Amino acid sequence: MTNKEERKRILTGIRPTGALHLGHYAGALENWLRLQDEYECFFLIADYQVSDKADDIDSVREAVHEIALDWLAVGLDPERSHFAIESLIPEHAELTLWLSWWLPLGMLQRNPTLKAEMAALESKSVPVAFFTYPVMQVANILMPKAHLVPVGEDQLPHIEMTREVARRFNRMFGEVFPEPEGLVGRVPRLVGTDGNAKMGKSLDNAIQLKDDAETVTKKVKSMYTDPTRLRATDPGHVEGNPVFMYHDAFNPNAEEVQDLKDRYVVGKVGDVEVKEKLATVLNNLLDPIRERRAHFESKPKLVRDALAAGTGHAKKVAEETMREVRAALKLNYLD
Ligand code: TRP
Repeated sequence: MTNKEERKRILTGIRPTGALHLGHYAGALENWLRLQDEYECFFLIADYQVSDKADDIDSVREAVHEIALDWLAVGLDPERSHFAIESLIPEHAELTLWLSWWLPLGMLQRNPTLKAEMAALESKSVPVAFFTYPVMQVANILMPKAHLVPVGEDQLPHIEMTREVARRFNRMFGEVFPEPEGLVGRVPRLVGTDGNAKMGKSLDNAIQLKDDAETVTKKVKSMYTDPTRLRATDPGHVEGNPVFMYHDAFNPNAEEVQDLKDRYVVGKVGDVEVKEKLATVLNNLLDPIRERRAHFESKPKLVRDALAAGTGHAKKVAEETMREVRAALKLNYLD
């Protein structure tokens, strides 16, 4: 393995809105796990990004701990990677502000992800912090000078913005920041159990990493399948069928999946069997995660220590970067 100092860096983040689900796993966590050896990783709990939870900070606090627990449960290793809480590193807020000096409003207005999210808020009033969250995200990524940002597909416009901001900054003030690349997971967007385009806790269509086996089996049994198929003997559709999408995403036995598909399209297998097999696959995947989660749940001090150590390290790195940024911007008025 390469020396720690030589490793390139990853920064990626998540909003503390609740425990993690299978969509996070296939879309992101799986990549993070794999990349821990190769990169020095900063995993950020982005609590500056939850203006939608402003009146429910207790839920944010709970989510911070739930997420750390989920990270430990899937096998992210706080010895190698840094679990950091964003607002305990206020340098993120400071860098956001300096960067916003050179970030044209139009760049935010054109950002397709932000545009879609604003549209989804419809008539609700939009806090300024919501409109500027992509700038904060740019600051998050630039802070440890990350080279790689493994994220969900919807986050790519923010990475493009980061590259643009880094280029501008370097051009004006000298080479400070690398231009980071985005990396989308194996399953960029997992459909919900209800067939909704996206799995989300608030949509009530998620299988959580902490769900017990019985809950997972129940959720799989009630999953949407092919609405045109009334009897097991009817020929069914595999495409666009959430149950098969999950088999494709999670079943390591490609032969079994192919056999189920072959029989499904000719009406030789019932939804029950396809779902039973899926429940088994998911529970096999989740069993070791549940075991580790139970271990850390019984030792909350380990979770807290992981967050404290990671945040402490990330804060030091942030202070270093900010010293450089301040010097580049000639802000040291009293020196
Ligand atoms: N906005 C991201 C999301 O909702 C979370 C996030 C915050 C993030 N800061 C980041 C992702 C920095 C990548 C890099 O998923």
